[in-house]
Amino acid sequence: GKHLIDLNEFTTDEVDEILELADKMVKNPLDYCEIAKGRILATLFFEPSTRTRLSFEAAMLRLGGQIIGFSSPDASSTSKGESLSDTLRTVAAYADIIAMRHPKEGAPRLGAKFIDAPIINAGDGGHQHPTQTLTDMLTIKSIKGTVSGLTIGVCGDLKFGRTVHSLIKAFSRYPGNKFILISPQELKIPQYIKTQVLEKNNIEFIETEKIDEVMGDLDILYMTRVQKERFFNEEDYIRLKDSYILDRDKMAMAKEDMIVLHPLPRVNEISYEVDEDERACYFKQVEYGMYARMALIAKLLGVDK
Ligand code: CP
Repeated sequence: GKHLIDLNEFTTDEVDEILELADKMVKNPLDYCEIAKGRILATLFFEPSTRTRLSFEAAMLRLGGQIIGFSSPDASSTSKGESLSDTLRTVAAYADIIAMRHPKEGAPRLGAKFIDAPIINAGDGGHQHPTQTLTDMLTIKSIKGTVSGLTIGVCGDLKFGRTVHSLIKAFSRYPGNKFILISPQELKIPQYIKTQVLEKNNIEFIETEKIDEVMGDLDILYMTRVQKERFFNEEDYIRLKDSYILDRDKMAMAKEDMIVLHPLPRVNEISYEVDEDERACYFKQVEYGMYARMALIAKLLGVDK
């Protein structure tokens, strides 16, 4: 079976096919309400989640399939000392496809070595979050009509924010995209993303600490939460957590057709007053997340035809 560990292991044609199928599912969801009948999705979440786990489960149910899983390692035999490989071998005996979130970078790739059933990376530590990126691509394509030629500002915790790492990798494959990386010094994008993704592919990018100076240039503003759970000490978290707060005044500096995205959960980085702005698209993004995952499940199970 084919796994989804890193979105760039799919060709751009394969990604485009998933987005096209997702778009059809948005328009005619009932056409797909039985295609996964008799199949089981397992959601194995070794870290907390609201959107990713529940949208995967809703996606499978909307395709006519069924779900099993756990939402915390405490609720599984991991708490008794069972290894990840034994857990996965066990679950693969029950389920046809597995979505797994894990705090350790690389855990889904390691897990894929032990099982034949497709495994989907639902977030691995501070590394990657490929199904969030499918969600982001579907949202941007639906609203902007394209995933190319965009000036994309990513703001906040670019060091630990796995959604941003996957987003930059994926959008670097489409022509004309430029990145403005907005973060405090301590939370800059990892060097490997700069050298192995941006510089290697000659992608235009700048790094800045000052959001006000770049607001007017952006087509997309992708806000992120400072990832408290990945900090080594609370002092640094408290000092950095409110580095950027998007409010009405900042929105007034942006283009009329800029859109604001955020993978959510938000903590304090977007004021609730911004929700009223037509350019705030993060709850639309939540909806698209379920359709992106419906299309992905259908493709990986081979029931999309
Ligand atoms: N965007 C996202 O991954 O949200 P959850 O952590 O709630 O799944």
